[in-house]
Amino acid sequence: MPDTIASPEAAVTDALLPERLARAITLGGPIPVAQFMAAANAHYYATRDPLGAAGDFITAPEISQIFGELIGLWLADLWDRAGRPAVHYVELGPGRGTLAADALRAMAKAGLTPSVHFVETSPALRAAQAKAVPNAQWHDDVTTLPDDAALLIVANEFFDALPIYQLVRRADAWHERLIACQDTIFLPIAGKPVPDEIVPEALREAPAGSVIESSPASVAVVRALAKKLAAQGGAALIVDYGYDGPALGETLQAVKAHGFANPFDAPGEHDLTAHVDFATLAGMAELSGAEVHGPVAQGDFLGLLGIAERTAMLARAHPDRGGELAEAHRRLTHPTEMGALFRAMALTGKGWPQPAAMR
Ligand SMILES: C[S@@+](CC[C@H](N)C(=O)[O-])C[C@H]1O[C@@H](n2cnc3c(N)ncnc32)[C@H](O)[C@@H]1O
Repeated sequence: MPDTIASPEAAVTDALLPERLARAITLGGPIPVAQFMAAANAHYYATRDPLGAAGDFITAPEISQIFGELIGLWLADLWDRAGRPAVHYVELGPGRGTLAADALRAMAKAGLTPSVHFVETSPALRAAQAKAVPNAQWHDDVTTLPDDAALLIVANEFFDALPIYQLVRRADAWHERLIACQDTIFLPIAGKPVPDEIVPEALREAPAGSVIESSPASVAVVRALAKKLAAQGGAALIVDYGYDGPALGETLQAVKAHGFANPFDAPGEHDLTAHVDFATLAGMAELSGAEVHGPVAQGDFLGLLGIAERTAMLARAHPDRGGELAEAHRRLTHPTEMGALFRAMALTGKGWPQPAAMR
């Protein structure tokens, strides 16, 4: 059953995470990058609200209300063209609930007032979400999402926080990258060689030092969502930064106070992210019965949905905020800011209409 309030068990956080990880590694040996990342991010998100100028990073909905509003209108348009069926709004990793609040306000103006389901593990962020969207219901993962109506799903900067595995090429073979620990200093090492078969053929002969990343956790979430869309109808919008893999490259990064840090230092105190492999997620969505649209650049997506017009409208209504609104427009859409790095990909259930702005 979904939780209706922030779950109290989840509020128990692990203040001694580095010591606990160090002990686990000393006793059991080095651990996969994915295990390290999952433990570090669970602690990081459970213990703070990291968003905003005073936090570690900022996201598109926190830059401007227009981001969530346009996504709300994008969903309302799809719902309208699908014949206005019964739907639930679902958001994965909703942060402070800002995107949902802005999207729900825009949807309500279009006559769409769905029930709201948040997939969120952080008690600190569940509390913030409850203030922004008081009538939401919370889920620890996607398995408890409702199955009695179509789903309108949004995931902005959610998949980049899910754990990744890394393989590293050495002269002799590919090896899984593991995290070892010496005197509470964590460092990446090459584990045992892995069979060639698990490395995509085109990448097997890469030069020594090359890295390949994969995120089975992300693939599993997309598989579950696509199966639900195929069975129940609806659409999902995934917005993140990423690439079309599998490919060579190391993208694991740590962010603290709007700057980069060493991902293996101070586990649980930095936001750990990795770029999202859109092509692999798209392949799994199709295999699981959903239709895939895009990905398209965030700047193009928001441009086609009318971000310039909405910015001008708000600036006319609030002339004192003209500069701030223009700056937010630029940050969300300019190719040197978030416009090209971030991409939007949509999944739909069979028979659902073609989503807007996906070309
Ligand atoms: C980078 S923040 C993005 C927040 C929000 N979508 C936004 O755009 O402002 C990542 C969000 O995903 C949540 N999260 C991270 N890992 C999660 C997991 N394994 N399951 C559920 N939520 C998770 C975090 O608590 C946070 O709400």
